[in-house]
Amino acid sequence: MIQIILALILAYLLGSIPSGLIIGKVFYKTDIREHGSGNLGGTNTFRTLGVKAGLAVTLADILKGTLAASLPVLLHLDLNPLIAGVFAVVGHTYPIFAGFRGGKAVATSGGVVLFCAPLMFIAVLVVFFISLYITKYVSLSSMLAGVCGVIYGLVLWNIPLLIAVALLTLFVIYRHRANIKRIINKTEPKIKWL
Ligand code: G3P
Repeated sequence: MIQIILALILAYLLGSIPSGLIIGKVFYKTDIREHGSGNLGGTNTFRTLGVKAGLAVTLADILKGTLAASLPVLLHLDLNPLIAGVFAVVGHTYPIFAGFRGGKAVATSGGVVLFCAPLMFIAVLVVFFISLYITKYVSLSSMLAGVCGVIYGLVLWNIPLLIAVALLTLFVIYRHRANIKRIINKTEPKIKWL
């Protein structure tokens, strides 16, 4: 039991590594939380620091979820990887290493899904990019990708996966409250590069 608790703490700490803050401060002397949407995530890094930094932060945030979800397997624990993954997403969103001001749970959730259900990851990625192409809103596309994951889980009828993805999607939507208001008011920024 103690090993499982330690693994969950480790997953939370992994998720807490503030990739956006580290890359922004070390390479650009910039705290991205003071720019753009104020979010500590890949999209705001793209917006504030450009493509290279945005890609690096997005990949690092995905990797945190994948690594955390793989912990139960790596440590030979009787623990569902989805649970470790959810702890990493909580860490990413409320990071102990960055004053509990983190991201909106998208990329790290994607990393968890990548490890636990790779085909679902491909499906949500396709929906994300189709939506992004049509709407130009990253936020809306992130939420739609989550909803696609829930539908995929329903079709598979994989209950643990369905519960985890539904929880993550609700969390993603909750974290996008300000974006939803901006979309309704037509003040949400659109991407220009797709
Ligand atoms: O991954 C977060 C994205 O969906 C929205 O980010 O910075 O536009 O609020 P942002």
